[in-house]
Amino acid sequence: MFLLGIESSCDETAASVFTDEPKILSSVVASQDRFHSRFGGVVPEVAARAHLTQIIPVFRQALAEAGIVARDLGAVAVQNRPGLVGSLLIGVSAAKMISVALGIPLIGVDHIEGHVYSCQLGSQKSIFPCLALIVSGGHTLLLDCQTATQSRRIGQTRDDAAGEALDKAAAMLGLGFPGGPALERMANKGNPKAFLFPLGMPQESNPDFSFSGLKTALLYTIRKLDQPLSEMQKADLAASFLQAVVQSLVRKCKFALKATGHKRLAVGGGVAVNGLLRSQLTDLATTLGVELILAPVAWCTDNAAMAAVSVEYLRQGKISPPDLDALPL
Ligand code: KG4
Ligand code: ZN
Repeated sequence: MFLLGIESSCDETAASVFTDEPKILSSVVASQDRFHSRFGGVVPEVAARAHLTQIIPVFRQALAEAGIVARDLGAVAVQNRPGLVGSLLIGVSAAKMISVALGIPLIGVDHIEGHVYSCQLGSQKSIFPCLALIVSGGHTLLLDCQTATQSRRIGQTRDDAAGEALDKAAAMLGLGFPGGPALERMANKGNPKAFLFPLGMPQESNPDFSFSGLKTALLYTIRKLDQPLSEMQKADLAASFLQAVVQSLVRKCKFALKATGHKRLAVGGGVAVNGLLRSQLTDLATTLGVELILAPVAWCTDNAAMAAVSVEYLRQGKISPPDLDALPL
């Protein structure tokens, strides 16, 4: 059976075709960076309008790349929660229209479960039960996952998400939008020990995160330096800031692994693309004797292949009603 997945929770318009195995046959992502870069961040109304223009072309391309036509589809899944409500509404409306037009089941799925499931997609065997770290522009979460659809939140950010902090740090350093990848490139040229930044929520035994103090510390450090900053100073600031964010994430994973006793750590979300985070988590997993399952890089940032978690819903007979809503939280 062929399923269609739709993602429109933030600023990527995405569609994917997969089988009920699940095997991913296509994954098309239309980025909206060009619409948001001049504002330095995602503007919700601009995002919703961009989804509206992109959703049908992206859907058609996903079918074409999978080599199927619409009437071959057996179900349509949409990530209907959480996210920007105006953005979610476009994907949910499109999925409902496709469900009604083709007479196929509609399955609303959780975007966060999708990020965890992207780790499953890259693995040959079941990754559950596991501890999951989902780290993106909108979320920094530690989840105790029993199955793909049963999890308990054990840690979260008290303020900014890690990706949001990286994006804002990149903006302060004049590196453009989206900031995470630009900050990583700049950090690779710098010294992570050049500046000492404070870790948010430093208590080892607290699984929550905080990144806003770190962001303020960067702002004050920049203000104290002669302007304009040299490329070397920017590289050192980027490297030191990134090191502080990564260290914070790794420390909390260490604590949560010990507290839960999990022997597997799954990591997904846009920030999981970051090379420093991937290598420091690899070291942590080796030290603790834990299996590390990193989401494949192509499925870290928002995409619709992760909506393949719908296959698990389908197995449990969890079909959504036609009045499925978009839920921001
Ligand atoms: O998962 P995602 O596409 O969207 C949300 O659900 O938020 O994540 C986007 C975030 C952005 O904050 C972006 O700067 C960050 O992921 N990101 C990175 C890298 N690539 C993307 N952060 C650090 N290093 C990267 N290479
Ligand atoms: Zn996401």
